[in-house]
Amino acid sequence: MTIWAILPAAGIGRRMGSITPKQYISVCGTPVLVHSIERLLAVEEIQQLVVVLQEDDIWWSELNFYDPRMLTTWGGDERFNSVLNGLEAIIERAEPDDWVLVHDAVRPCVTQADIRQLILELSEHNVGGLLATPIDDTVKKIGVDEHVIGTLDRNGLWSALTPQMFRFELLYKALSNAVTKGISVTDEASAVENLGLKPKVVMGEKSNLKITHEADLIIAEAFLSSEGIE
Ligand code: C5P
Repeated sequence: MTIWAILPAAGIGRRMGSITPKQYISVCGTPVLVHSIERLLAVEEIQQLVVVLQEDDIWWSELNFYDPRMLTTWGGDERFNSVLNGLEAIIERAEPDDWVLVHDAVRPCVTQADIRQLILELSEHNVGGLLATPIDDTVKKIGVDEHVIGTLDRNGLWSALTPQMFRFELLYKALSNAVTKGISVTDEASAVENLGLKPKVVMGEKSNLKITHEADLIIAEAFLSSEGIE
């Protein structure tokens, strides 16, 4: 049984407001995407990594990054289209029961320990699941004019992180179902939930942040420096 990894890296990062997509911005002297790739390749259990790029990407070839366990393919309009393209790239070689780990290219601080724990806790699970972390803040629902219209009970509310880990056949079915029904899903787990299944959460580190805004780069830099990465 093979463990595959898919790294969707085909976003343009509208919220960052920078010309360079956020996966190509350097943190501790190395592009975010390269940190993420290296973090996944450091886990020997992962036998092949598919990096999904924008079709008009002009930055990737500049990196001159090569690894025998890595291949690239083109992304789609939304994140879930990109992940589905990643699955298409290995469809001839993947077995239905193989595991697939999907990790956002813009989460460069994921730890090997978290990835290993995810694999360990889910390897016998019949659905699969994801790294996640409980929400500590009080969560407000906001209506028009930025006024609070309610406070959610944070008990049982978790933030979904990545990697998310599902079997090839189930993930392919879940994402194809989202495409066919025109449901825009922002993670793999919600595509699987739409099939009536319940993914398991595995507690992950809060440091596994998604680079979204400029301030996130500073936090990532501080975290990676604390690990001795310069
Ligand atoms: O936009 P967001 O922050 O949710 O993106 C999460 C990840 O999905 C990023 O690594 C981004 O490059 C990727 N993505 C993609 N294809 C898209 C949109 C986003 O691979 N069409």
